Amino acid sequence: MSKSAFIKSSIAKKYWMALTGLFLCLFLVGHLLGNLQLIFSTGEEGRRVFNEYAFFMTTNPAVKALSYLTYFSILFHAIDGIALLIQNKKARPIPYAYSKPSENSSLPSRYMALLGTLVLVFIATHMSNFWWKMKYTEEIPLHSYYSSMAQDTMYLTQKGEQISLNQLRMVGTTEGSQLIMKADKVNKLIEANFSNQINSNVLDEDELAELELAKNNQLVKKDEVLGEGYRDLHTVVSAFFSKNNKSESGVPLGLLGMLFYVVSMAVMAFHLWHGFASAFQSLGLNHPKFTPIIQLFGKGFAIVVPLLFAIIPVFLYLIS
Ligand code: HEM
Repeated sequence: MSKSAFIKSSIAKKYWMALTGLFLCLFLVGHLLGNLQLIFSTGEEGRRVFNEYAFFMTTNPAVKALSYLTYFSILFHAIDGIALLIQNKKARPIPYAYSKPSENSSLPSRYMALLGTLVLVFIATHMSNFWWKMKYTEEIPLHSYYSSMAQDTMYLTQKGEQISLNQLRMVGTTEGSQLIMKADKVNKLIEANFSNQINSNVLDEDELAELELAKNNQLVKKDEVLGEGYRDLHTVVSAFFSKNNKSESGVPLGLLGMLFYVVSMAVMAFHLWHGFASAFQSLGLNHPKFTPIIQLFGKGFAIVVPLLFAIIPVFLYLIS
């Protein structure tokens, strides 16, 4: 078989679907462990821990590379799946005369393409809910908390420094996750301070020149980044699944979101039920001793992983 024929053949398509599918299973485990923090680390401390984790996941170069591999795998797995379906339909436009699918194969295995499409719809909706907002919009506020000691709302920077909201209001602003000291705001304060001194004292020419010099030395030339804060993804995810998340006309968006995630996880469970062990078959990894173990593990994986994912939105809905 020529190289291009191998790539185009249905065996090759199955092979690549299996590899990308198994990689996506690994992604699911990692993503699940990260998201379970939404349940296990609660309160202010939990919010901080989750937001620091989310920051690490979006900025660490190694994790970023894995993320690109994940996007690629999702697209490749889906496109390859559709191509395989079309190829199989073309090869056998009329089904086998004596085929009795219910006797030869399990229900999920016959609906893999449909289940996969529904999972893809879920992923697209899910990524627009959180990932898109985090990466491409300014909709996610910066992580802040009330400090009773400072009697002010504080921002925590990635270097562990704290910047108070009042300080920021006076001299700065936020842009993305950056806390920025604006030169024009600082300079206004400096100018006001010096004009106070000038107005409240009787000064001779030398003293005036001295003050003018001191002022010019203090004026700031450009905006300065005071520090990088964290995005408050924890609050955004919790608010998304909250009972209080309702549209202006009263549609319970939190409830609908939670149900959508739960139903999608059931769909994903069916997709994995057949997909996990089938991937090992497509890779040619058959063994009389190990195949039954892989099949059993695959079924366990198909139940446990989606179930734990589904518990997260239900939990966030119930505690809201
Ligand atoms: C039900 C519980 C889930 C919650 C609470 C959740 C939460 C999140 C959040 C907050 C993000 C944004 C992270 C960021 O941009 O830093 C995200 C990204 C993502 N989620 Fe989920 N997720 C869940 C389930 C799933 C499932 C079941 C899948 C796959 C079938 C999935 C696929 C993805 C993908 C592909 C991304 C982008 C990841 C990246 O950029 O590396 N999520 N999720």
